[in-house]
Amino acid sequence: MQSGLPIAIIGAGAVGTTFAVALHQRGYRIAGVASRTPASAERCASMVECPHYSVDPVEVARAADVIFIATPDEAIQEVCRHITEEGGIKRGDIVVHFSGALGSNILDSAKQKGGYVLALHPIQSFPKGEVSVGNLVGSYFTLEGDPEALRFGERVVGDLEGTAVSISSETKPIYHAALCVACNYLVTLTDLAVKMLEAIGIKRQDALPMILPLIKGTVHNLQRVSLPDALTGPISRGDLRTLERHLGAIEKILPDYLDVYKKLGSLTAEVAKEKGSLDHDRYEELKRLFTKQDDRTPQQNP
Ligand SMILES: NC(=O)c1ccc[n+]([C@@H]2O[C@H](COP(=O)([O-])OP(=O)(O)OC[C@H]3O[C@@H](n4cnc5c(N)ncnc54)[C@H](OP(=O)(O)O)[C@@H]3O)[C@@H](O)[C@H]2O)c1
Repeated sequence: MQSGLPIAIIGAGAVGTTFAVALHQRGYRIAGVASRTPASAERCASMVECPHYSVDPVEVARAADVIFIATPDEAIQEVCRHITEEGGIKRGDIVVHFSGALGSNILDSAKQKGGYVLALHPIQSFPKGEVSVGNLVGSYFTLEGDPEALRFGERVVGDLEGTAVSISSETKPIYHAALCVACNYLVTLTDLAVKMLEAIGIKRQDALPMILPLIKGTVHNLQRVSLPDALTGPISRGDLRTLERHLGAIEKILPDYLDVYKKLGSLTAEVAKEKGSLDHDRYEELKRLFTKQDDRTPQQNP
């Protein structure tokens, strides 16, 4: 299904351009593109057969019935207020932002002029400067806002072969933090592993390709057997001696990483317990090993 409503894209970055291209491919009409720099607006407009691009979001919004504000989070409220105050929003317009952390209430200025507001968050990662339609299609999306705008959002999600999940604005900070753990911290953990391999003389450019198949295999296991059964390795097996050797070597070569290794080890022991691969005594031993005070760390006064 496609929407005949003319759409304005405000903020022609990774998400704005990806939505524009994906929806254009599905028969939606992108009526105008505005961005801070003309080059970004022109680039996006050229991809979606849109003759109208500008650095002025008001004139672009005026010509549309649906306004996508795809600027960085900190600019959304101000851009919406500016467009509204300058007459870019008319009664019945649908105004959408894509932030995972913010509620639709930051678009209140548009609502006061009779607009319907929506926070539509794709649970996906869009690298800067890229158009990632393949990432967008088939994703999960959370939606929150006015019923009239929700109906439009659900149609967009359906056309993108996605799954729509409703969310309340109050829970969005925790929701967004959880997604940061799944996405951003995965990158951080990968970086940590690469640095550990570098510390024993493996070149950085070799380290990532060495562990990428392991990461992909683990993601595949998560898809196949889910949580907690995807957990493998020494903690899952309750192999105390191996883990003591890990801690001894990390303390010697990479002491700054000891705390994070122990904290994650302690959390991993809980996953292993849930999986049922540790008996109670071995679980307690592992928890003691991972919470034991580092000898080098001064004891804190109670
Ligand atoms: N990236 C992700 O993985 C991801 C995932 C889910 C949701 N989101 C959300 O999507 C939204 C956009 O993020 P993004 O990653 O696409 O950011 P981005 O790549 O940095 O793009 C933002 C664009 O907004 C434009 N812009 C900045 N200030 C502006 C203003 N005052 N008026 C008009 N245009 C302005 C910039 O334009 P110029 O290029 O012209 O300077 C830039 O191209 C954010 O709400 C973000 O939280 C992002």
